[in-house]
Amino acid sequence: MIVIGSDHGGYELKEAIKALLQARSVTVLDLGTSNGGDSVDYPDFGESVARKVSLGEAEKGVLVCGTGIGMSIVANKFPGVRAALAADIYMAKMAKLHNNANILVLGGRVLDENEACEMVAAWLDSTFEGGRHQARLDKISALEKELYK
Ligand code: RB5
Repeated sequence: MIVIGSDHGGYELKEAIKALLQARSVTVLDLGTSNGGDSVDYPDFGESVARKVSLGEAEKGVLVCGTGIGMSIVANKFPGVRAALAADIYMAKMAKLHNNANILVLGGRVLDENEACEMVAAWLDSTFEGGRHQARLDKISALEKELYK
């Protein structure tokens, strides 16, 4: 199951990503926003998605706002969340290979819709390399334990 969310700036791309995921037979939980016309606050939707991933209620998430910046700031407040703001297919792929990102963050106002969908596919279809990259993620987990105790 993949949980997705956006603000108004990411609404259209979120809808396109939802269609892509459903076409791939992925179960999608869409936490809003439910239209692109009303101005909403990205922290509300970033929180909903990141909380589910942080609690283990969803394995992965996708967040979209205008630039992706606000959503990535919010999502990375949550323990266990590794939210990666990607700008191209290479970054989306590396977000999984090296960072094992469990949330992919995209900018609806800066990405071409087709390329953004290819980025989601590249992230989903890649496999974390582990090894030295796991050791680096372990350091991040240790930091979280220290900072959030
Ligand atoms: C909304 O106008 C915009 O600020 C938001 O979508 C996002 O880009 C914030 O980082």
